Amino acid sequence: MKNMNTNFHWKDAIIYQIYPRSFQDSNGDGIGDLNGITKRINYLKSNSLSSLGVDAIWLSPFYPSPMKDGGYDISNYCNVDPQFGTLDDFDRLLTEAHNHELRVIIDFIPNHTSNEHEWFKESRSSKNNPKRDWYIWRDGKIDGSPPNNWISVFGGPAWLFDKKTEQYYLHSFAKEQPDLNWENPQVKKTMYDVIRFWLRRGVDGIRVDAFNQVLKDYSFADDPVNPLYKEGKDDPYNRLLHTHSKDVAGKLYTLKEICNVMDEFEQKLLITEAYLEIEDLLHYYKVGQKETLSPFNFFMLRKPWKASIYKDFLKTYEKDRQVHDIGNFVLSNHDNPRIASRIGRNAARVASVLLFTLRGIPFIYYGDELGMKDGEIPSEYAQDPKEINNPGKGLSRDPARTPMQWDRKPNAGFSTGKPWLPVVSDFMIYNVKNEQNDQDSFLSLYKTLIAIRKASPALRRGSYLAIEGTEDNILTFLREEAGEKIVVVLNFSSEEKQISLPFGKSEILYHLEKKDKSRIVSLKTVDIGGNDAYILRLF
Ligand code: GLC
Repeated sequence: MKNMNTNFHWKDAIIYQIYPRSFQDSNGDGIGDLNGITKRINYLKSNSLSSLGVDAIWLSPFYPSPMKDGGYDISNYCNVDPQFGTLDDFDRLLTEAHNHELRVIIDFIPNHTSNEHEWFKESRSSKNNPKRDWYIWRDGKIDGSPPNNWISVFGGPAWLFDKKTEQYYLHSFAKEQPDLNWENPQVKKTMYDVIRFWLRRGVDGIRVDAFNQVLKDYSFADDPVNPLYKEGKDDPYNRLLHTHSKDVAGKLYTLKEICNVMDEFEQKLLITEAYLEIEDLLHYYKVGQKETLSPFNFFMLRKPWKASIYKDFLKTYEKDRQVHDIGNFVLSNHDNPRIASRIGRNAARVASVLLFTLRGIPFIYYGDELGMKDGEIPSEYAQDPKEINNPGKGLSRDPARTPMQWDRKPNAGFSTGKPWLPVVSDFMIYNVKNEQNDQDSFLSLYKTLIAIRKASPALRRGSYLAIEGTEDNILTFLREEAGEKIVVVLNFSSEEKQISLPFGKSEILYHLEKKDKSRIVSLKTVDIGGNDAYILRLF
């Protein structure tokens, strides 16, 4: 691990999510692979100006898988799927990344395996098989119907009847993803050894998939009906409140155990995935080792783009989060529509300024730095089980998983073969090559924001103080560290505004609209355009 800076701290990190299937294909089969990622490390991190300058990559799954859920259905936890390469390719990617001081985080999927995993094959083979209890098997009701009313995230009942042994097994996700039984000590031990396997190999952190699903209420009581559910409008999964099938007491004990495994190593980052209210999420911090635990905060992914809503959220997120609790912010990921599609490219530029100026790790979803939008996916391309089980309801996650847009070559330089999902139609404009040469591009915006954050102790580590009293559509806050004071002003609306701030003069570090050429402004009256933002350093 040469060149790795031992003073590195996760608090200072900027993390880039790669969906390996869609980043770079190196062998022309239309599917991205590990060697493709290795080839692109220079883009992510190098000394040259053309590099983005992130500190770590998080790789969505690349393990052997029948691909019923984009690789989140694993048939072997300790290997690489031939589509993506080999374990040697992984080791090369890791070495190359480390040589560039780029950390590597991988996905850990504890809730379920593939139905083609050897463990499940054994488990389903007979009621007496030693692995029977590794999964969750139950008899049906007297009338033969499933043991309870639980439903799958991807649609339909969460139970599937298996003729061979005449019992149902639980699958919180696709029917090809049977849930592991975390009540069984052997399951836990084996899964903790999976974590150790990758950390020993040199991996720098894990993202725990679907963490709040892992434990269930083992009374298997029915989930209550959600009184607010609107048939035909809401995701069918929201028909029930998942009081018994997820988020049950005891999950923080499991989190503590995972933290203990991570603590056997040094400085390994643990990120948990769970869509929670901010108050619930903050409880996670009470469990873990400080400064290497960062439960995902999905607020920006899901909430409407309104300054008042953001003000309230930041008040809660900031109030109870201690100095050592590492926060994080996420604009897009592989499970949700991209930010540029959700709020439009102009507002997405303002959201990017926010992402890089808040107190917590900024997560970049590959392609967001280009202003990439969701693709149009013809039905014959549909891959996502959520779409396949609920066709045409707008629930598909495929649109946010289209190939990375590198240049103007066929398939945007992603592959010489037919890509597994079609490339977004406006790739001729929005691609790395074009944007590298355009000062006003999204990519230039990202590079500038990353450089500003890296150079500013206040933005990386400083305290956060909301500045109240500005008008409704404006969000303003002060970040402060070691004598440096940075004020950030964001206009969430498309109308020009004039505001007054309770400070004297400041230097403009960044002005999104760049209309104002002066480097010094008085903060008594600040003109801010629609969808505009300032990063200001106080004197
Ligand atoms: C997580 C993943 C998602 C996957 C699901 C089941 O939510 O992010 O892509 O489908 O878990 O593993």
